[in-house]
Amino acid sequence: MTTSHMHAYQQRYGLQPEHELPVCNETLMLQLKHRSCRKFTEEIIPNDVLSTLLASAFSAPSKSDLQQISVINIADIKIKAEIISNNPLLKWVEQAPVLLIWCGDSRRIRTLSDHREHTFANDHLDAFMNAAVDAGMVMQNFIISAESMGLGCCPISQVRDSINSLSNILKLPKWVFPVAGLAVGFPQDAGHVSMRLPNTVTVHQNVYDDTNDVQHVGDYDKRREGVHPTPDAAQLHPQLFGISEEYGWSEQHTRQYAVPMRTDFGDYIRKQGFNLK
Ligand SMILES: Cc1cc2nc3c(=O)[nH]c(=O)nc-3n(C[C@H](O)[C@H](O)[C@H](O)COP(=O)(O)O)c2cc1C
Repeated sequence: MTTSHMHAYQQRYGLQPEHELPVCNETLMLQLKHRSCRKFTEEIIPNDVLSTLLASAFSAPSKSDLQQISVINIADIKIKAEIISNNPLLKWVEQAPVLLIWCGDSRRIRTLSDHREHTFANDHLDAFMNAAVDAGMVMQNFIISAESMGLGCCPISQVRDSINSLSNILKLPKWVFPVAGLAVGFPQDAGHVSMRLPNTVTVHQNVYDDTNDVQHVGDYDKRREGVHPTPDAAQLHPQLFGISEEYGWSEQHTRQYAVPMRTDFGDYIRKQGFNLK
């Protein structure tokens, strides 16, 4: 592992790598250095660059080669403004020169089943999950392609906070649903690498084992706060939980999930025609 790979690993995990990586290349480096970008310059992304990135993105693997994904490029500033106006938390998206909405699309195969006069006999939860996973894979491929060209991206599930309104704006028909938005542009600043959980928590050998997770996550909280301390003003829901002396990743996200969010999503997905049994 070169010094720069060691450094990238250290930034990503706040730890020294356990083993030297046997290979180091640009792709590994690009992935280790990934950071979401929410501040963009005014530089536009030429259409030919965008279509190249999309072509690359759709090269992702796809469940059963079904290709159950559609992406909507929000090029019309009125439609973009309408999406953003749904949620004050999306104000920063105004500056993004490109806004894409990645959708799971189980409609195409159902339309083709009708057209080819075959029964669609797989109307169950798997249909929803496969389309959602395909959408995530293509979006991630897009992010890596974009970052390889010096662009920055940020996925946006907050577009689903007003799911019915978003769906109406995008005129989504049955069996198509938004997975996430993606803001894309040239980064205004370098941003920072967000430290990840150690592989001792996320990588299991042969069988699942979370015996020591609470301890490992506690250590991770401390490492992470040591590098990027959360200011008191950024603590989540202080009106409910007060200001914690020992704030960290696990406090942040258990607070986040202590408050219901997007409780209408299941109803929306059923309304789009999915049978979730
Ligand atoms: C499916 C998905 C949805 C996300 N939604 C949002 C969002 O709504 N708003 C936001 O600011 N970041 C969003 N993010 C970005 C995450 O907050 C970010 O990936 C995470 O904090 C780790 O930071 P990093 O990407 O810089 O490593 C989303 C990421 C994913 C994968």
